[in-house]
This record gives sequence, C-alpha cells and structure tokens, in this order.
Amino acid sequence: MKMKPLSSDLPRREFLTRAALALAAGATLPAAFGADNDPAAAGERPLIVSTWDFGKASNDAALKVLLGGGTILDAVEQGIWVTESAGIGTVGLSGTPNAAGVVQLDACIMSGPGHTAGSVAALEGIRHPISAARRVMEKTPHVMLVGEGARMFALEEGLESIETHAAEHYEAWQKQRAKLKAAAQDPKATPKNHDTLALLVLGADGNIAGGCSTSGLGHKLPGRVGDSPIIGSGLYVDNEVGAAGATGLGENVMRFCGSFLVVEYMRQGLHPQAACQEAIRRIIKQERPGKQLSLNFVALDKQGRHGAATSEGQFPYSVTSKTDSRVQPGARI
Ligand code: GLY
Repeated sequence: MKMKPLSSDLPRREFLTRAALALAAGATLPAAFGADNDPAAAGERPLIVSTWDFGKASNDAALKVLLGGGTILDAVEQGIWVTESAGIGTVGLSGTPNAAGVVQLDACIMSGPGHTAGSVAALEGIRHPISAARRVMEKTPHVMLVGEGARMFALEEGLESIETHAAEHYEAWQKQRAKLKAAAQDPKATPKNHDTLALLVLGADGNIAGGCSTSGLGHKLPGRVGDSPIIGSGLYVDNEVGAAGATGLGENVMRFCGSFLVVEYMRQGLHPQAACQEAIRRIIKQERPGKQLSLNFVALDKQGRHGAATSEGQFPYSVTSKTDSRVQPGARI
C-alpha cells in the first residue's frame, strides 16, 4: 500500500510499530489502526452511517430513498428529516431553547461531487433546517446564511414554518431539567443536550454526501453558533477520501476543525476508526489534562469502511446497508 507522509501528530515510531505488528500478524495496514470493525458491511454500497442510536431511523429512511432511486443528497436530506421531526429534544424544533427561551437551529449539507456545501445557523421556526441548508447550497451563490436572513430565505423557498411558543418551551425545559437533576441526585448534573445528528452517505456509485442538524447547546447565548453548520467542523466531505461528522460540545470541535481533521487523517491512509481516534488524541494533547471535552466523531471512507470514537462515556453510532441496519459502539479514547 502506498502511503502519503504522516503528519507529526502520529509519531513515526508509533506508526511504524503499529504497522509492523499488523503486517507481521498478516493483517492489512488499516487493521493496525482499529480497522475491520465491520467485515459484513466493508465494501458494501450504498452505506450510511450516523451519530447516536437515534440516527438509525434516519439511516433507514436514507436507504429507502436510495433504493427508490433518489440521489445521495436526497438521502441525506430526507434521512435527516426523520430525526428533525422525531421530538428527541436535541435536533429540530423539539430542541432545547437558548437562554432567551428560543430554539435556534443549525444545519449543513455537503456534496462530494462538486465539493459544494450549504448551511444555516441560528435559524428559528423552520421545521427542516437541513432543507434550508440544501437550498442555500443549490439555489444561492453562498455557503452559509444565519439568523433572520436564513429564516427569510427558508420562508421564500416555501419551507414549512412552525410557530414556536418560546415561553412555554422554556418552562417545559425547566421542568424536564429539574426532573433529570433529581433523578441523577446530583446538583451539578447537566442533561445531555447537544446530541447532534451527523449522517454520511456512500452511494452505490461511490460518491459521498453528508449532513448535520442540531438545536445546539441548551441555554446557549442567543446567536451562539456551534460546530454543526460549520463546514470542516461539524461535517466534512471529500469525494476522493471519505466523510466525517461530529457531535458533542461544538466549541471543542470548532477550535480544531474536527471533521476536516478526521478526513485528513483518512487521506494519510488511516482507517476511519483510527482517524476518529487520532483526531481526538490530537485535541486532547492540546487541552488541559483531565478537561471534559465531549468530542465524538464518526467517519466513512470511499471503501465503505467506517468508525467512530469518543473522548468520554459512550458513543453509539448507526450503520446501515442493504443487508443490515444496526447500532454499534464507538471507541473510547
Ligand atoms: N455539536 C452541537 C453544538 O455544540 O452545537
């Protein structure tokens, strides 16, 4: 296998040791970096991977779109619709409101062919922010629209808008938060409230697309934008290599262009699993020891290999092909 030079973040000695051990054991080089997690689906097309267990319903919908003759972008968009409408509390209008009691949504979409992208941020009252992102990509000369401008554009495009009752939503959230805190019996407990959907699609023809959608960090300052709509942070697609998406605390992903970093590791020859792990290790190295980072990456390459990793706790991710649809654990660093 011809390898491009490795970055300084994967020390040469470590790389050589892993490679030597793997090759001595008769494994392929990528296997040395956490590969072979999915022999059943490896090489299968189409293939869809997404963040979290709730991503599975979106994956299944995306597969249906592809099998029905839809494009990879249709699959991304319509797959994400399912989670945006599912009322999970972290994606779509069911999401946790910001500090002013308003739900502000972030989303982006990216196409491997043509390397095009669209995104919306701090978007209010639109049921499917992923559709707004797709229209930004396809119908404007821009990549990103935010706030009221994004909302006006979505309305002009005829996207469904829903009146949100900020005060009621805020009250409901306060009650839910109190219950969760009581259940945890920990006064410092914070409910998980930034579980983003990132969904990556490898089409039957080998082309790749991806999308990302979230209501972002609960109680964020009005106008705060996380990683999810930022190309290279919450999502990145390179049609020559693969795609990656992120979920977790956006501030920690954005400062390192997290998804771009994962894709670049894949470009250097790493298996998607190893690429996710190396990206997290690299970020950890530059942070205060012991700091909770809440970083999670999922990745998919052109060969149909995939992987996921988390900096803390557990990070299930969803994998769907024509023969199987399941949730599996990401690696913990
Ligand atoms: N990852 C979602 C956010 O931090 O907004």
